[in-house]
Amino acid sequence: MSKKFNVAIAGATGAVGVEMIETLEKRNFPVNELRLLASARSAGKTLKYNGKDIVIEELTENSFKNIDFALFSAGGDISKQYARAVVDSGAIMIDNSSAFRMDDSVPLVVPEVNAEDAFKHKGIIANPNCSTIIMVVAVNPLHKAKKLKRLVASTYQATSGAGAKGMEELEIQTRQLLSGEAIEPKAFAHRIGFNLIPHIDVFQDNGYTKEELKMLNESRKIMHCPDLMVSCTCVRVPVMRAHSESLNMEFEEAITPEEVRAILQSAPGVKLVDNTAAREYPMPIDASGLYDILAGRIRQDCSRTDGKGIDMFISGDQLLKGAALNAVQIAELFV
Ligand code: A2P
Repeated sequence: MSKKFNVAIAGATGAVGVEMIETLEKRNFPVNELRLLASARSAGKTLKYNGKDIVIEELTENSFKNIDFALFSAGGDISKQYARAVVDSGAIMIDNSSAFRMDDSVPLVVPEVNAEDAFKHKGIIANPNCSTIIMVVAVNPLHKAKKLKRLVASTYQATSGAGAKGMEELEIQTRQLLSGEAIEPKAFAHRIGFNLIPHIDVFQDNGYTKEELKMLNESRKIMHCPDLMVSCTCVRVPVMRAHSESLNMEFEEAITPEEVRAILQSAPGVKLVDNTAAREYPMPIDASGLYDILAGRIRQDCSRTDGKGIDMFISGDQLLKGAALNAVQIAELFV
């Protein structure tokens, strides 16, 4: 019989946590025992896995005995607090937070791009930022072919990126605004219903936000290109769960839209949706619930004459490939 693994999910009740449970189930991950961990508020409640009720336990330092993989999605502070306990227990921590991503001793992994890095772990493997994962899955195959030099990205990020409370806020505010009620922003700095907010994570001295700098630093680390130039504007939009990105890419060599389509047609984790005559292009409603990143609106950058620029639009499910699916795929590398 093939080996089965004991898996813990810290933050099991959160927006990403519940997708982790479902992804393990849907992909038939060889689970022996599944341990669901959250705060004391959730202890004693149950969540379903493969049709069975599993009682949620309070996350403590003793939660990881006999665990093989500990998937964390309960925020950076919780990851930092429990990392030592996970590593000492002998489990591999797959951490969805930003706590360890830029740590030189921690691999930052998107299996379609740099699976080999995962095997250099010393107990912790980091799951990258959601917008970064979605971007590198589509961009790395082009980088491999024509060497990417510069990337300018604008994101259209769903409320799921702020967790269950972000999605709930969009739903509540939409109802309240349509019925003329007063609204009170909580999860976001401003109203998100019928609005967009060019502010995700905290502002830095250079005018960028931390989210924008994550896309720069993490994409360099994942794609192993320390000199890549990246500039981003990250925007929260009133979309429930899939992130979209407008990408302007400059390559070392000339590249045509036809070449881009041919490369992405066979790229793992990418689905080409690029038939403008039929009004087919990536949209968050179509990307929601999918494992693949949708790529389309592929065209030559008309602002340059050297044929080295490409524009493209992508959409990907933030909770799946941007978080839960990527984490489960990392665990699958060891199965
Ligand atoms: P709980 O539901 O018990 O609060 P989201 O990103 O959707 O907001 O989810 C955050 C996840 O992190 C939830 O599962 C939440 O559990 C969990 N969490 C938050 N604070 C703690 C904590 N102090 N200890 C353990 N889990 C926590």
